[in-house]
Amino acid sequence: MIIAVDGPTASGKGTIARALAAHYGLPHLDTGLLYRAVGRQVFLSEGNPDDAGAALAACAFPGRVSVHPAVRAALLERQQAFANQPGGAVLDGRDIATVIAPHANAKLFVTASVSARAMRRWVEMKQLGKNVERAEIEADLEARDERDRNRAEAPLRQAEGAALLDTSNLTKEMAVATAIALVEKQVAAKA
Ligand code: C5P
Repeated sequence: MIIAVDGPTASGKGTIARALAAHYGLPHLDTGLLYRAVGRQVFLSEGNPDDAGAALAACAFPGRVSVHPAVRAALLERQQAFANQPGGAVLDGRDIATVIAPHANAKLFVTASVSARAMRRWVEMKQLGKNVERAEIEADLEARDERDRNRAEAPLRQAEGAALLDTSNLTKEMAVATAIALVEKQVAAKA
């Protein structure tokens, strides 16, 4: 069984994908890590991820290499091989149900309000001992959303047939239980 989980940063998609993988005994790939790794490499080699001359200021947006079609193509095969391994897999990202695995057995589009996502990120940062302004986090999330939704190649969007799961007012346990119920419903409907 292949399960595709897409959604914006801090929507809860990573937590949900990990829980689904544990529940169904499937391997899990956080595809955002691939783009972050590429971003990190560009940073280490002192390259410019924007191709436009803007300063690389402290690698504030390590995911911004993901707008380039060549980068996406280079990572496509790896992600598809992971999705299509025997037994299936859970992948989370931005374009899993739209590009990487449109044939997935279950597709979730996980989202939450900007304020709920900023609050979660703020709590995470706080736990790491980092004191960042909530407004700053909101601005960062909005900038990422804007970039992920409006890029020409594989933009973030709810795929046809994907179930929408808004986690704004759900606890982690409720979000996971809802995700499992949605997967069961999609699998049963296709059987
Ligand atoms: O999910 P995460 O926030 O770790 O992803 C980092 C960045 O990688 C995102 O902002 C997005 O631009 C990019 N990404 C993507 N397609 C995916 C996963 C992540 O473009 N499937």
